[in-house]
Amino acid sequence: MSKEVVVSGIRSTGYLHLGNYFGAIQNYVKMQDDYNCYFFVADYHALTTLPDPKELKPNVYRVIAENIASGLNPEKVALYVQSDVPEIPELYLMLNMLAYKGELEKTASFKEKARSQPDNINAGLLTYPSLMAADIIIHRAHKVPVGKDQEQHLEMTRNFAGRFNHRYGELFPEPTAFNFGEQLIKIPSLDGKGKMSKSENENATIYLADEDDKIRKKIMKAKTDGGPTEQNSEMPDYIENIFMLMKLVSSEENYDKFLADFNKCEIRYGDMKKQLAEDMIAFVSPIREKAANLQNDIPMLQKIMQAGKEKARASASETLANARKLIGINY
Ligand code: TRP
Repeated sequence: MSKEVVVSGIRSTGYLHLGNYFGAIQNYVKMQDDYNCYFFVADYHALTTLPDPKELKPNVYRVIAENIASGLNPEKVALYVQSDVPEIPELYLMLNMLAYKGELEKTASFKEKARSQPDNINAGLLTYPSLMAADIIIHRAHKVPVGKDQEQHLEMTRNFAGRFNHRYGELFPEPTAFNFGEQLIKIPSLDGKGKMSKSENENATIYLADEDDKIRKKIMKAKTDGGPTEQNSEMPDYIENIFMLMKLVSSEENYDKFLADFNKCEIRYGDMKKQLAEDMIAFVSPIREKAANLQNDIPMLQKIMQAGKEKARASASETLANARKLIGINY
């Protein structure tokens, strides 16, 4: 039986952090053996906010390097850059003829962007969902591993795919969000406010590129208090967050020890944070170093991107030829 097709896009802006690692990359890594995976850096999507050309390129190299350093195997998956696959914008153009202004304007992400950048409400922003749909259905994907915030885009993808099928003939499966079930974790921010994210407090977010000292400093600054005064009391959320991070990167022994200390009201948060910092460093530093080595070898990265592009285009050109034929623009 042939494997199901999985597609996911990675934003090319900002540095990857623990939230990206445990929320997305780790799941990509788990899927690479069981599915036919296409993972790409969404550099065309990044153009909707007019990035500085000087920054875009190193960002793309970095994202590719960090994903490989985190365990994505470019021999198992197609790892490529969106703009290297011209079949995607061609399908995007076709899908734009099936996308209505009204539904695009109603998209939550569009409304949010229109609010945050009122001076640049460009057509690319409006048609972000049709480009994302093209990314996905160009490989006739079945599953898309994305977070809850992408649910609406995925629903629009199904609508566009369904409209195409209805008008021109069956070509596209209607893709669904890949459900990680229990594993869909939000990584809490170190200041106890919300989750780790690119846009929130930098000092409360641990990046895969952070140096050891920086990791240590950030963790030692994480919010704690004087400790519980009653045995087995409930944890405040900022303490629960520290335990959660420990669960992800520390040994079971360490985790159990501090949990027992907490329950006995003997916890010393300073010691706990010191331990967490060392375990976090042991976790992050090999990824950071591998990513740095890759970024120091651009020809190597380019070779990987070239191989990804070839795999992606093989699949994309087949879909596009079929789409052209069904529409009747194959002369
Ligand atoms: N919109 C996605 C995000 O903001 C990125 C993305 C672009 C994507 N194209 C995609 C995700 C295709 C999944 C499939 O994270």
